Amino acid sequence: RTVYLNGAWLSEDEAKVSVFDRGFLFADAIYEVTAVISGKLVDFAGHAARLRRSLDALGIPAPVSENQLLSLHKEIARRNALLDGLIYLQISRGAQDRDFLFPEGLHPTFVMFTQAKQVLDNPRWKSGISVQTSPEGRWANRQIKTVQLLYSSLAKVNAARDGFDDVLFVEDGFITEASSANFHMITPEGTLVTRDLSNALLHGITRGSILDLARKAGLRAEERAFIPEEAKGAAETFITSATSFVMPVVSIDGHTIGDGTPGPVSRRLLDLYIEDRL
Ligand code: PDD
Repeated sequence: RTVYLNGAWLSEDEAKVSVFDRGFLFADAIYEVTAVISGKLVDFAGHAARLRRSLDALGIPAPVSENQLLSLHKEIARRNALLDGLIYLQISRGAQDRDFLFPEGLHPTFVMFTQAKQVLDNPRWKSGISVQTSPEGRWANRQIKTVQLLYSSLAKVNAARDGFDDVLFVEDGFITEASSANFHMITPEGTLVTRDLSNALLHGITRGSILDLARKAGLRAEERAFIPEEAKGAAETFITSATSFVMPVVSIDGHTIGDGTPGPVSRRLLDLYIEDRL
């Protein structure tokens, strides 16, 4: 693969980042993941806007303009002949001698790579996935898309050991989100419910798009916090992200949701999203 590193196009084994990089030493870095379908970027504007918010929140200067960012996305897809898959980008504050304090004027480290993957026709869209509730132990500013993913990664590995596909983080009794996706339910009355935006969860680009599409399609939608017990009694539950779009969740802690198969509303939203974004 050809990867992008600070203005250069390099083969993946040529690209090197300093061991003193603050992304490596302090997780002082942010990231984005954007899907590509048939060579077309999915929800690019939303990902670019959130990238800007994450950079501003950490005070990392943007290494490129939004127009340049778009060109880089197109260029990396072209160079890797990527038709279907993901584009990952990470920007760290840069490298310095290890110090909790950082000076002004560090040079950000900007890396991009592609991952070829069949994002459409995900076989799991048909079966759905299972999740395990897990105490929320991530840091307190989850709206910033930082690379502090250790807790999420460990929680997901634990869940996998217990036979689940993902975790559902719970804080003060309320669901926040899954390890790398937002969580939603369709109530028995047919209302889409998703948690309201705050620092408790990542403001998912796919979440926002699905909410818009659902309302346009005439579905009632509410943004509020809810507890696992309510989700377990829902007609349907699902998660959303740039990598899974709309993925049905068919069981929570071993409790079957609905009839245990992906529901019609989740499927409709997935179809609407694919139709609208292609
Ligand atoms: N993760 N919540 C968390 C904690 C996430 O990491 C993600 C995305 C989402 C969904 O956001 P979006 O719809 O903007 O992708 C929610 C990416 C896909 C990843 O880490 O690979």
